[in-house]
Amino acid sequence: MKLDIFTLFPEAFEWFGTQRSVTNAVAEGNELRLFDYRRTTPLKAGQVDDSPYGGGAGMVLRVDVVDAALRIAYGEGPRPRTVLLSPSGRLLDDPLADELVAEPHVALLCGRYEGFDDRVHQHLADDEVSIGRYVLAGGELPAMVVADVLMRKLPGALGHEDSAAEESYSQLLEGMPEYPHFTRPPEYRGWTVPEVLLSGDHGKVREWRLEQSRIRAREHEELDERQ
Ligand SMILES: C[S@@+](CC[C@H](N)C(=O)[O-])C[C@H]1O[C@@H](n2cnc3c(N)ncnc32)[C@H](O)[C@@H]1O
Repeated sequence: MKLDIFTLFPEAFEWFGTQRSVTNAVAEGNELRLFDYRRTTPLKAGQVDDSPYGGGAGMVLRVDVVDAALRIAYGEGPRPRTVLLSPSGRLLDDPLADELVAEPHVALLCGRYEGFDDRVHQHLADDEVSIGRYVLAGGELPAMVVADVLMRKLPGALGHEDSAAEESYSQLLEGMPEYPHFTRPPEYRGWTVPEVLLSGDHGKVREWRLEQSRIRAREHEELDERQ
């Protein structure tokens, strides 16, 4: 897949681009590209924002600036699925990540300041996605979260093909949280590893893991109910 990120701070993604899942996905032919609104702004002196009509604090990212960035990237032809990052968007979860990773081409729009002129939401974006009901300073961290979720779902992004398939909230785990993992040593300060995991009986291990996932799912439900 091609994943394009539109941002005012492309340098924020330097570390992200070096992560193993990303470099593996890119080596498999996928692309992660960064676009800087300031490089394509039609306004003078790299201007990208303006004060809000009607008054109020903060600056607003201009619609003509975002439109120019998209037009220069994609011309007048068909556009990728364009996802605007917003605290009030559809909450990111595993089914949404599956939906997005099935797209051949996705563009993520990172906001800053007070966010986007609403005409970006109305006319340029196909979806709005939130990584949680809280407000961050900008869309770069949310874009990295979305990109990370998508990239690690791509074939070859993780060393072991099964590791992305059977994870928390995946279909293989019936949407439940993942079971606990243990590794060597088998005992540390009296803290032991469940016997079944040392038994070599794959059927029993599978049964135990599913049961642990069910227990965690019930615990999470109880926590959610209490909140
Ligand atoms: C300071 S926020 C704007 C908040 C906006 N004034 C509001 O009250 O909803 C600036 C940008 O950060 C991004 N952002 C902040 N929190 C986010 C979240 N929880 N999920 C997704 N994007 C977020 C969005 O791109 C947003 O346009």
